[in-house]
Amino acid sequence: MRLRNKPWAKDMINENLDLISVHPDSMQGKWQSKFEKEQPLFLEVGSGKGRFITELAKQNPQNNYIAMEVQEGAIALLLKKQVENRLPNLQLLLDNGSKLTELFGENEIDGLYLNFSDPWPKTRHEKRRLTYKAFLSQYQVVLKDDGYIRFKTDNQGLFEYSLISMNNFGMKFDELSLDLHNNEQFNQDNIQTEYEEKFSKKGFRINYLKAHFES
Ligand SMILES: C[S@@+](CC[C@H](N)C(=O)[O-])C[C@H]1O[C@@H](n2cnc3c(N)ncnc32)[C@H](O)[C@@H]1O
Repeated sequence: MRLRNKPWAKDMINENLDLISVHPDSMQGKWQSKFEKEQPLFLEVGSGKGRFITELAKQNPQNNYIAMEVQEGAIALLLKKQVENRLPNLQLLLDNGSKLTELFGENEIDGLYLNFSDPWPKTRHEKRRLTYKAFLSQYQVVLKDDGYIRFKTDNQGLFEYSLISMNNFGMKFDELSLDLHNNEQFNQDNIQTEYEEKFSKKGFRINYLKAHFES
């Protein structure tokens, strides 16, 4: 998903550097200092326009959340929401998920969300998939020992790939559904992302898993 450039985005970002970090180079192990309260810290990689993380942060004031997004045009739309809401437990991060171990300290994150990640279907683009082994090894470093990953996608190919990639990495699966919206147990607290709403309305089933690394 490439969003059109937004002429206002840069100014809005520069005026709100208390709400968003832009390619920071010295935040490793210090993210809690960005929040009002020190409390469990969760990260979403690839937040897009950010409805999911905004709603999650509203519903869970007992946690802190970081929304990470590589596209300025997408995170600017999330920033617009956060400028209105000013949720004290939500921070934005403009950067690439491929740099997680430079951006976060070891064991700094309690849980990680991947929602409707770009599928990169061509084999030559495998390394860009957010469930490729090089990403998993970074998630393992920044997640606490009892941390977890929650992953949702409508894309069957990416889901199958991710199951194999995580399994080959030695991860263990705690929850799994090939039809999240019709799963009473896992759908109970589900917050739909922009992509999720769009594709489930078109009739696509939503795949979901929760997994952790073996320590
Ligand atoms: C298909 S969109 C889904 C957006 C949102 N999660 C949703 O479900 O509506 C995938 C998003 O992930 C972002 N993304 C892709 N690769 C990324 C990376 N390496 N680091 C951070 N964000 C990334 C893209 O810019 C895009 O906004």
